[in-house]
Amino acid sequence: MSTSVTNLNPNAINAVSILSSARPQLLMCAPHLYDVDYVINPWMTGNVHNASRDLAMKQWQNLYAAVSEVADVLLVEPQPGSPDMVFTANAGLLYNGEVAISSFFHPERQGEEPHFRRWFAEQGYKVLDVARETPFEGEGDALFSEDGTRLWVGYGTRTLESSHDLLRAAWGVEVVGLELIDPRFYHLDTCFAPLVGGYVMYYPAAFGADSLREIEAFYPEDSRIVVEEADAVRFACNAVNIGSTIILNRISEELLARLSSLDFEVVQVELSEFLRAGGAAKCLVMKLGKALDAPRLT
Ligand code: ARG
Repeated sequence: MSTSVTNLNPNAINAVSILSSARPQLLMCAPHLYDVDYVINPWMTGNVHNASRDLAMKQWQNLYAAVSEVADVLLVEPQPGSPDMVFTANAGLLYNGEVAISSFFHPERQGEEPHFRRWFAEQGYKVLDVARETPFEGEGDALFSEDGTRLWVGYGTRTLESSHDLLRAAWGVEVVGLELIDPRFYHLDTCFAPLVGGYVMYYPAAFGADSLREIEAFYPEDSRIVVEEADAVRFACNAVNIGSTIILNRISEELLARLSSLDFEVVQVELSEFLRAGGAAKCLVMKLGKALDAPRLT
């Protein structure tokens, strides 16, 4: 990429983003302080202090460049003691200019909450807090169907099922819980991706039987892109989809052919250093909506 993001001023980017019109806005956090410092998912096992920060920075910059082709990126400053802050998908979940700030299951990540909260408040978003007793890990575990009619929320590893009630009550949206049964796929966005055009890309073995039935009842067979285990463990489902563009970690020729046959333009970005912490493309990005409709200024 041509610009070094290491020296970018987030506020300058913000001003530019607000002036430009209808491109989607995304939130990212540069990996200056990224590391694998603890183990809270199976991917982190054996990887404590094993990630290369230099390589992580290069990979993140490649992702930033790919994402910037199709969206405006805002940045939140990384904070000492919060190495997983790069995974901004876990900051919270945005709906109509209001953000439900995550209440992390693991104490290791709870220190991120005030930083994300402050960032959203400063940007003028209305902030909804989720109680500590009902863990909720934001967009990592909560994804709207492409038509926006349904909020799919993962539970079983991080997000507690009872947190769904709060989202229903606050936003009046239809919430359907999906039970995650494989510890490797501990967040919904590691195994499930609603895509433009009404498609869904998912790894079926990550879900409980009832949840799989819910998915398959909602998405007709020809809209389902079933991911095999070899791609699932490369976090193929952890994909950023904007318009016809899909940005993800390296995938198999078969999956690439399937996505291309549906007219998706696939951009593969190597993200090995983030896989060591259990994340890939989609985890490193949070959707903020369109420049013109978010935030709702109060
Ligand atoms: N180490 C982080 C964790 O275990 C990775 C989070 C990845 N984020 C995601 N949206 N799946 O919480």
